[in-house]
Amino acid sequence: MEDYATVMNLGPDQAERTFERIIGNSAALESVLEQVEQVAPTDSTVLIEGETGTGKELIAHAIHNASQRYGRAFIKLNCAAIPLDLLESELFGHEKGAFTGAIAQKIGRFEMADKGTLFLDEVGDIPPALQPKLLRVLQEQEFERLGSGRTHKVDVRLVAATNRNLVKMVARGQFRSDLYYRLDVFPILLPALRERREDIPALVTHFVKMFNRRMGKQVDSIPTETMCAFQWHSWPGNIRELQNLVERAMILSRDGILPNPLHKRRTAPIIVSLQQSQALPSSMTSEESDRALIMETLEQGGWVVGGPRGAAAKLGLKRTTLLAKMRRLGISRPIPQDGIDVIGIAREDV
Ligand SMILES: Nc1ncnc2c1ncn2[C@@H]1O[C@H](COP(=O)(O)OP(=O)(O)OP(=O)(O)O)[C@@H](O)[C@H]1O
Ligand SMILES: [Mg+2]
Repeated sequence: MEDYATVMNLGPDQAERTFERIIGNSAALESVLEQVEQVAPTDSTVLIEGETGTGKELIAHAIHNASQRYGRAFIKLNCAAIPLDLLESELFGHEKGAFTGAIAQKIGRFEMADKGTLFLDEVGDIPPALQPKLLRVLQEQEFERLGSGRTHKVDVRLVAATNRNLVKMVARGQFRSDLYYRLDVFPILLPALRERREDIPALVTHFVKMFNRRMGKQVDSIPTETMCAFQWHSWPGNIRELQNLVERAMILSRDGILPNPLHKRRTAPIIVSLQQSQALPSSMTSEESDRALIMETLEQGGWVVGGPRGAAAKLGLKRTTLLAKMRRLGISRPIPQDGIDVIGIAREDV
């Protein structure tokens, strides 16, 4: 990923941006970064899709930074955060007196982004009445400010993002199909964090270092229990949720050790599902609870699988059955990351 930081023009004086470099080397993320490198130098519209917190804004910045427009404006507008009646003037601007309350002339985001990049976040929230106007500016690169007949020409590269399913919205008549096809020139789908769990240790380490700097702390040890809990959480809020949980753990940490902030959530229901799952394998509630149970048992026993005190015996499984389950669930011992120790790992067995 160091190479990528170079592509993003991260200078040593840009500490905050260096912090926010793109962490991870899973195949899923590598494929995303490859697409970023391919599309960045073109002027094509990019549509970034992904669940909340998967890094859509980070990728939008990366596209701009790796494009020839780097150094020009990167203008952002969150279409979901602006009241509908103000959105049109935010996009295209208005002349003085264009509507009640328009006491002065206002430049819209398209004009601000001239020669640069416009990032339209939550583009699925653009109301139907505005969609034809957006389509026109994308096709013709021209528009009028509200209350003016004068046409403005702009040179804007559009990067749009959404966590909504635009195809479904088109089918339901909530999103114009012609606008959808205009946006869908180069779609980039960001994987959910649970689909690239191998990136979690590096992300945790990255956020620990970041918060060490921001909070003036010196957390330098991550217990296996904490790393395992991070590794197997389902992460509905993706990387933002991970970042927030590391922050919480950093606030709680003492003696340089990162506690498990998920600890309180892992309570009775998982244990119940474990017992049920031993009695009735077909009634296992979810891979998640199986994983949690197996991980917890492995951690408690220092990652010893076989033998009378091993995890297999504790779970009432044959050693080979447990090893097969671990393979199927992708469970392996967490690997220590550079500069930060993962403590409490036994060397045997796994
Ligand atoms: N690969 C990554 N490496 C490091 N930090 C990341 C990575 N991906 C995301 N982040 C961080 O996670 C947080 C969420 O990312 P971002 O805001 O880009 O997500 P998003 O998809 O736009 O979320 P939302 O849909 O909620 O707007 C940010 O603080 C971002 O810097
Ligand atoms: Mg976002």
